[in-house]
Amino acid sequence: SNQSVYRATTTAPVNIAVIKYWGKRDTTLNLPTNSSLSVTLSQRSLRTLTTASCSAEYPPADTLNLNGSPQDIQSSKRTLACISNLRALRKALEDADSSLPKLSAHPLRIVSENNFPTAAGLASSAAGFAALVRAVADLYELPQSPKDLSRIARQGSGSACRSLMGGYVAWRTGELADGSDSLAEEVAPASHWPEMRAIVLVVSAEKKDVPSTEGMQTTVATSALFAERAQNVVPERMAAIETAIQNRNFHDFAEITMRDSNTFHATCLDSWPPIFYMNDVSRAAVRLVHDINRAAGRTVCAYTFDAGPNAVIYYEDKDSEVVAGTVKAILGSNTEGWDGAFYERVANVTAG
Ligand code: PMV
Repeated sequence: SNQSVYRATTTAPVNIAVIKYWGKRDTTLNLPTNSSLSVTLSQRSLRTLTTASCSAEYPPADTLNLNGSPQDIQSSKRTLACISNLRALRKALEDADSSLPKLSAHPLRIVSENNFPTAAGLASSAAGFAALVRAVADLYELPQSPKDLSRIARQGSGSACRSLMGGYVAWRTGELADGSDSLAEEVAPASHWPEMRAIVLVVSAEKKDVPSTEGMQTTVATSALFAERAQNVVPERMAAIETAIQNRNFHDFAEITMRDSNTFHATCLDSWPPIFYMNDVSRAAVRLVHDINRAAGRTVCAYTFDAGPNAVIYYEDKDSEVVAGTVKAILGSNTEGWDGAFYERVANVTAG
């Protein structure tokens, strides 16, 4: 049995926040200063595929390969934290049941691949760390629930904790210093709102933004708006958007989503030195969404932007012609001022 290779393969989806996580109260454990809420997108559009294997025959060091390139795990504290947490859970199982193979003592080999261009600046770390944690947990046959595993994925990348579940997912800040109550939980399954769609507009294929960890630290240290948002604005928005989701109230869902994206980017502008994630094309997309809603006489679409210029636009399937049709016709044909490749993908909300 020394010759055995144990293996597990899994996929994890991308999630796009409608209430943004921005700011850490603990940088080692990735504990956030505010709760956040996201929508998990279809894996047919955007996902990470990861295989984890282990064997006593492997060379001694754990290895990680991302999109065909070997990564230096030892220099990634976050990857090391995820792996050591998972290994400790496996070790506990082995200590309790001596008939189990001692997989915790074997070197790990993790191979991961995205089905979308990594350089496109789409939040790939969420799907990446969620897939890594799920694959190793499956390899180790861990009994922990997705909520339990979200505590580990969070240490890889904060937003990754929300990609272990489908549909509408909240990440609660928690209160404890050890982070044991800073977990993701499903607010509603994808099936609750089957009409929901997302269109992903890649306005820049280059990755030259301020990395999220660095940006958050600058904002936390220098922006007065930041504390106001975290303490007074986000708690009310979390409650309101959860109600909007329960009631499938697209008007409220959309307004809160757009306002929270704008507030998040306002705290970036309020940082010192200021941080710019959105560009001219991003702002053109904002104007277009407001124009489409005004012309329709009701709210049919909502934009949101992460730590980069790319737009995600939420809408309901019944409005796909006016939303996806108009966005493609206007933004897709106007290549002037575009920084990189334009592409769009329509995603359903997924069951995870
Ligand atoms: O998970 P991180 O550390 O890459 O941070 C993600 C931050 C945002 O994407 C801007 C917001 C969010 O909640 O996903």
